[in-house]
Amino acid sequence: MQQQSVYLETFGCQMNELDSELVQGQLEALGYRFTKDDLEADIVLYNTCSVREQAENKALSRVGIISQRKRDGAPIILGVLGCMAERDGKDMIRRHPQIDLMCGPSQLDRLPMLLDNVAKARTSDLAQAVSVGDRVALTGAGSRRSTALEAAEDSLEILDLSRAFNPDRGAKSGGRSAYVRITRGCNKFCTYCVVPHTRGAEVHRPPSEIIAECQQLADQGVLEITLLGQTVNHYRYTHGTAVTLDGREVAQVGPGLKAFRQEHTSAQHATGSRTTSFADLLEQIHDAVPAIQRLRFVTSYPKDFGDDILAIMADKPRICPYLHVPAQSGSDRMLKLMNRGYTVEEYLAFIKRAITLVPDISIAGDIIVGFPGETDEDFQATVELLKQVPFKNNFIFKYSPRPGTVAITRFEDDIPDAVKRERNNHLLAVQAEVSEAVHARWSGRTVDVLVEQVSKRDQAKIGSRGSMKKTLPGGVPLTARGATLDSPVVESSVREPNPEIPAQPVQLSGRTAGDLITFFDSPKGVDPLELVGTIQTVLVEETGVLSLSGQLQPPLPG
Ligand code: 5AD
Ligand code: SF4
Repeated sequence: MQQQSVYLETFGCQMNELDSELVQGQLEALGYRFTKDDLEADIVLYNTCSVREQAENKALSRVGIISQRKRDGAPIILGVLGCMAERDGKDMIRRHPQIDLMCGPSQLDRLPMLLDNVAKARTSDLAQAVSVGDRVALTGAGSRRSTALEAAEDSLEILDLSRAFNPDRGAKSGGRSAYVRITRGCNKFCTYCVVPHTRGAEVHRPPSEIIAECQQLADQGVLEITLLGQTVNHYRYTHGTAVTLDGREVAQVGPGLKAFRQEHTSAQHATGSRTTSFADLLEQIHDAVPAIQRLRFVTSYPKDFGDDILAIMADKPRICPYLHVPAQSGSDRMLKLMNRGYTVEEYLAFIKRAITLVPDISIAGDIIVGFPGETDEDFQATVELLKQVPFKNNFIFKYSPRPGTVAITRFEDDIPDAVKRERNNHLLAVQAEVSEAVHARWSGRTVDVLVEQVSKRDQAKIGSRGSMKKTLPGGVPLTARGATLDSPVVESSVREPNPEIPAQPVQLSGRTAGDLITFFDSPKGVDPLELVGTIQTVLVEETGVLSLSGQLQPPLPG
């Protein structure tokens, strides 16, 4: 059979980006070829997100376009993956009968089987007999997975490990950066949020699986790993409770929030069974896989974040001093209606602890404006919060009512869109000032930068080579300490003249351990692409609202 080509587009959050990365690894291992052009694809897959209406609308409009092409006779297989398939599956297929398959986030490991089924149905007489209902392939029927048994059967690690087949996954930073999921689902039920409904209850992967995956990525050259979970600090694995007959530990449902109210240091569970807390997990990954130069994690929940985690962050040099810890609002009244479970005072107390215990910590967040009933006074309280916390950035969202949530049934979406927009813009302006001050603190200091790419400004200088990290010979880069994996410390060396090295310096961009975007120029005579995917030291000379910029420093002698 001719190799089928797949176009896969991702909407929404980092969870989805990871899912897409894993789906691609899995399908490539089975012989599917991926294309960046939907016009040449046999299979078009949209990995959708329900968190915000905007992302849903975008996905629906893409589905509409492909549906039209199918009605015009194109033999495309159209699949909708992710949260919209889970939340809205049946309804969506009724409205868009051109969709061939749907697959919720918890069932993605079965996607190859679904694709196979669609292909088989097409080539058999059964094709005519497939009814609309039959095409709703695998969704979790919108129900939360709640029992330990279901969780034990959860196969998320099968999907996570699927990238074992493909060493090229994780294309950011020249393949040096990757995501690893540690927890799926959420137990929080913030009133505005669809995640607990679409991704189900918290399920935690066993530490051994997570460490094995980090090791595997390190072996493939990955330098930076971002651990993923909706509330990563809730990670907790109780050993000996979810094992297969042959003694292998499998994913398990989280212990519930009570576990966090009792204590913050957690080698022993109340029952005496051994547990691995989030702090333990960070320490274990850090110590077991030293080739990972940067370990970070998102998203943190501002409650249940113990000093044990902060202490590990401060103590372990390769754990990034970075937190994405959404406040959502600066008004206690709004936080209550959102069911966030903390007050502004508690949020600020947590930030203070983090700043005190972790030197140079970078803090990012999310804010929702225009939640039902938000008065000018409530909004002003959010403005004040932004001024009090040194947020490096905040993602600011206008509230949009999401189907299936508590907020949509209990509260009227009563803030006019114009007001939401105005509040959004106002917060962006306030945040710009805060971000500028946060960046300014780095002036005159040196930072280590994981180089990601040639900056957009200078793409033209390197022509078509820009999208790829160059691996051919052409001079060993002026590499700083802790550099590439294959050559952990490389000093500058004599090199052959290389016609591909641009005559002028080229501007590169990357990120600091605290996730601050940093620009610097490649030195004369060095191929800028050789620096992509390495960690370099930069002396910061200028700072702005969005970034730092400075001079590349030579490696330290010795
Ligand atoms: N409306 C607006 N923003 C939302 N978010 C989640 N649900 C909604 C919603 N219904 C935002 C929150 C969350 C981020 C991922 O998306 O700020 O932290
Ligand atoms: Fe949604 Fe709240 Fe869970 Fe975050 S913590 S995923 S906002 S329910």
